[in-house]
Amino acid sequence: MEQYSNLSLVYDELMDVDYKKWADFVSTYFKDKNIELKYKKGLELGCGTGNMTIYLKKLGLDLVALDSSEDMLTKAEEKLRRERLRATLLKQDIRSYNLNKKFPFIFSFCDCFNYITNYKDLESSFKNVYNHLEDDGYFLFDISTEYKLRNLIGEKTFTLNREDICYIWDNYINEDILEMYITFFVKEGKYYRRFDERHIQKIYRVEEIIEVLNKIGFKEVEVFDDYKFKDYSQDSIRAVFVIKK
Ligand SMILES: C[S@@+](CC[C@H](N)C(=O)[O-])C[C@H]1O[C@@H](n2cnc3c(N)ncnc32)[C@H](O)[C@@H]1O
Repeated sequence: MEQYSNLSLVYDELMDVDYKKWADFVSTYFKDKNIELKYKKGLELGCGTGNMTIYLKKLGLDLVALDSSEDMLTKAEEKLRRERLRATLLKQDIRSYNLNKKFPFIFSFCDCFNYITNYKDLESSFKNVYNHLEDDGYFLFDISTEYKLRNLIGEKTFTLNREDICYIWDNYINEDILEMYITFFVKEGKYYRRFDERHIQKIYRVEEIIEVLNKIGFKEVEVFDDYKFKDYSQDSIRAVFVIKK
């Protein structure tokens, strides 16, 4: 069962995310530091269907965006074409790519690092970022927090009953691993097509992430609450890390 294959078909329809707010945070963060994004090179990890790719392009970045799911990348490509924007899209795994170049900005939005389910791979993924980031460059990414995954998602079932799409989404927690089983029914003509997705995410505490980042050599780490200019706290649902190399 490949993650994000069939899901790419309904991902944008179901994502309840204020991407504009995220893009405004990125833009304001750098504007406040008098750092220009326009015409600068950027790398986006786990770009998915390209929702933030489009916003980053509109901020003027010259962008390379990668994701391990071909189907998500296909959606991203279609959307960029529709918007008449260009980005280099690559099918790559964030644990193991080597692009042989460095970027002043590296981004990753919406849980991509929760999909890295052990410390060894997390370290490789962050080392890759370190190796691809210019000196004085910035790395911005988020994770879903322990509070959200344990208290708001874990051991719960969510359902959606719409005319065009229905789902049953069961969540189980085993120590620090969250297993999500989602069965979708998507209307195609008179009938519904069923498909199943299994997603595994790891619960990371913010302190653990900072420890791995420090071990690799990232020293200046700020952690914000959910793309707001407010410090992360124990009941934040999303922790946003901004790191200067
Ligand atoms: C929740 S989606 C976020 C997509 C997009 N960033 C957004 O904000 O909508 C997570 C994405 O991470 C990608 N992903 C998960 N593990 C990955 C890996 N090891 N390497 C590259 N991409 C990965 C998935 O294919 C998926 O597109």
